[in-house]
Parts: sequence; structure tokens; C-alpha cells
Amino acid sequence: MDKLIETKNLYTNFYTFEGVVKALNGVGIVVRRGETYALVGESGCGKSVTVRSMMRIIRSPGRIMDGSILFFPGNQTDKQESIDLLRCSEFFMQKTRGNDISMIFQEAGTALNPVFTVGSQVAESFVLHRKREMLSEAINGFGAAGVKAGQGNSTPGSRKKNFFSRTWQKWQLALFKRELAFLEQYESRMNEIGKQLYELEEKSSAEAAENRLILHKKQEKLTRSDFLVVLMRKLPFLKTYRKPLEKIIQAQVISLLTKLGIPNPDNVFHRYPHELSGGMQQRIIIAIALACNPILLIADEPTSNLDVTIQAQILDLIKKLKTTQIASVLFITHDLGVVAEICDRVSVMYAGDVMETGSVQTIFSHPLHPYTKGLLHSLPKMNQTGVLDTIPGHVPNLIAPPAGCRFHPRCPHVMDICTRVKPPVVFFSSEHSVSCYLYPQKESYGG
Ligand SMILES: Nc1ncnc2c1ncn2[C@@H]1O[C@H](COP(=O)(O)OP(=O)(O)O)[C@@H](O)[C@H]1O
Ligand code: SF4
Ligand SMILES: [Mg+2]
Repeated sequence: MDKLIETKNLYTNFYTFEGVVKALNGVGIVVRRGETYALVGESGCGKSVTVRSMMRIIRSPGRIMDGSILFFPGNQTDKQESIDLLRCSEFFMQKTRGNDISMIFQEAGTALNPVFTVGSQVAESFVLHRKREMLSEAINGFGAAGVKAGQGNSTPGSRKKNFFSRTWQKWQLALFKRELAFLEQYESRMNEIGKQLYELEEKSSAEAAENRLILHKKQEKLTRSDFLVVLMRKLPFLKTYRKPLEKIIQAQVISLLTKLGIPNPDNVFHRYPHELSGGMQQRIIIAIALACNPILLIADEPTSNLDVTIQAQILDLIKKLKTTQIASVLFITHDLGVVAEICDRVSVMYAGDVMETGSVQTIFSHPLHPYTKGLLHSLPKMNQTGVLDTIPGHVPNLIAPPAGCRFHPRCPHVMDICTRVKPPVVFFSSEHSVSCYLYPQKESYGG
């Protein structure tokens, strides 16, 4: 299966008052086209920071220090050309986030804005990522509407009404066309500048730095909408010219809510987040993420705050979407039961490192890494009585993480080298890799 996104040697730090939190220690993961891939590990091991780094939404005091995030947007027949997301312009990232990669955040309650209706929040995602498509649809709709306005009986009253109606429609159509042309021009100029910036990124000469500065200034000067459209949107009566566009977007939102199994979507469209249950709020979050038909959906513990029955419904929904709407899913969880239920491959993370990667079946039946073995061992068994097995010791403080293998203070097989040098990733089989000195090095794995 082709790669869709790959992180290589990703290092992310947080600069806090207590010290530098070394949250990611050279993370390498690959999500393939068409698979459901899980990133699993206990709380605080760096799952969310990994995906936030991939989306380039790490906020201060965090900073991505090193590595690359290779995105392969072409389809399987294309040559596998990649784009390093860490070197792309912010405009390209804004387009990628949403258009190609969408994310469902951990807390549904806090991800929704309490002062806007849920419908308007899903609609915003359509406007942000599919505005050109919506505008084209509105313009096409005017062909038929214009003809209708010209027909009918020809009494003086109706002729006058038709005249005003046709003039208003012509005005609406002209504004939509103007908005579309302006948007296309803006996007093509931003893309052109983005390409030039990408090429300059690796050059360190003074001339390259100066050119980068000039290009950044050019980017800042470009605006998304022209003066007339912005003015029209602010004037009380005239702003109603957008009604046909709003209707098209509303219809799209309601159709998406229906697909996601939301009962009575016309009514839910006008509700505020606090009027919905947790499961329903999570469906709205999924609708926002899906509004732009992403290729990759990143789901960061989407079911952790839901009760089990709702959790099962949301998992079923993601499974269904995977077959109908999205190519790949990157699923983050600390729940191995969820991994077994919906994922194809899994990487196990510990303290900012990926310890082991393989198919779900292999990891569950033949775990190699002592941490993975410990995790699986600590799962409650059907007939188990008494105290549950645990991994002795504690998760390390990432301000002063252990040297070498970060798991070494808790590992029953620790050797001298483990305390000094980070173990490289080795392939046990073509589909199963592990980062541990207990296994002989066959092939080094860069990603
Ligand atoms: N904003 C922040 N400031 C400081 N440290 C942070 C911040 N966000 C995350 N971290 C650190 O990064 C580590 C990984 O966090 P995270 O990726 O959120 O864990 P999880 O695996 O539970 O998703 C945590 O141990 C935490 O110490
Ligand atoms: S590298 Fe060493 S300390 Fe780390 S898991 Fe393997 S044996 Fe244990
Ligand atoms: Mg998290």
C-alpha cells in the first residue's frame, strides 16, 4: 500500500518555566493510503503532540525542532512525489488542513464554540474549504432562476416585479462571479508565492533570505475578497444578496448531518452546542472535519469522554466513513480494545518514542518490545481474580528523560548500552519493526 503521510525523526520541545519538555524524541510513523492506523500509548506519551506537529498546529511554548513530515498527495498511479509539510508556506498548510487532512479533537465540548449554532459552525468549514465549489454552484443556479423571472403573465404589475427581480438577480450573479474570480486569482497568486518560498527554504544565502522576506511581504498584501464584496456584506439590506449561497451551504450541511446519522438535522442545524448530548456533539465535530472531503482523518481520542454505548456508535460511524468517504484514518487512543476493533496497523508510543509498529494482529499475538508486552499483560483477563498486572515504575518526566532507551528504568531486560544510546528501529519482518536492543539489527528504518 502507498504511503500517504510519513514523519521522519520528528523532535518537538516545549519551553516551560520548569525546563525544556522533550515531548517527541525522533518520532517516525507512516500512515498508508486506505488503512486505519492507530497510535497507542499511555497518557502523556506524545500522541497528541505527534499529530499536532503533523498538522503544524503546535502553539507556543512548543516548537518543532527537527524532522520532516512528508505528505504524498498524489494517487496510487502517480509517481510518489512528496511535499515536506514543515517547509511549506502557511497558506499551503491552511489548504491542506481541512482539504486533505482533517482532525477531530479530543474534547468535543471544548472544540465547539458555545455562542454559535452547530449548523453555522459546520457551514463555516464549507465556506473555508469549499467556497469555490459553493460559489460555482450558486452561479449555475442563476441560469434557471433568471429564465423563470422572465416568464409568467405580462400584467403591468408583474412586469414591474419581474424587472426588479431580474435586475436584483443580475446584480447577485455579478457579485458572485466577481467573488469567484477574485478568490481564484488570490489562490493562484498565493500558490505561486508558496512554490517560490518552498524552493528558497533550503537556501541559506543572504540573497535567499532577502527574497523570502519580499515574498512574505507580498503574501501579506494579498487579500481574499475585493472591496465591493466586503462592502456589500456589511450593508444591512444589500447583504441579502448572499441568500442563494447561504441556502446552498445549508443544504450541504443538512445532507452531511443526515449522513452522520443525526436525527432531525433541519432542527439540529439551529441548535447551540449545549443543547446537544455528548455523542451528538462528537458527531458535529466529525461533520466539521468531513465538510471538506479529507483524504486523511486524524481522530484524537474521539471517544474517550463518551459512555460505552455512544462510544460504540461513534466507532461504527468512523468505520463506515472509512469505507465510504475517507481514504485513511489515523486513530489515537490509549484503549487497546478500540485498536483491536477498528485498526489495521498500530504503533506503540512511550515517552515521546515509537517503540514498536506492526499489524494489529502481529502486535497482539507476537509483541516484541518489553513495553508492548507489559501493556498487553496488564489488560484484565476474563477469568482473572486478584490484583491486575502492572508495569513497575513510572512514566518519566520529559524535562529530564532517561538517556538511551527511555524505557530502560522500567525494563526487566535492561543492558548497559540501553542506558547510553537510543536503540535504532529494526525490522523484525517486512511489516513489523521494533526499537530495542534485544533484537538483532537487520535493516535500519529511517521513518
Ligand atoms: N502546552 C504544553 N506545555 C508543556 N508541555 C506540554 C504541552 N503540551 C504537551 N506537553 C508535554 O508533552 C507530552 C506529550 O503530551 P501529549 O501529546 O498531549 O500526550 P498524549 O499522549 O496524552 O496525547 C506531555 O508529557 C506534556 O508534558
Ligand atoms: S532497548 Fe534495552 S531497555 Fe529498552 S526495551 Fe530494549 S532491552 Fe529494554
Ligand atoms: Mg492526547
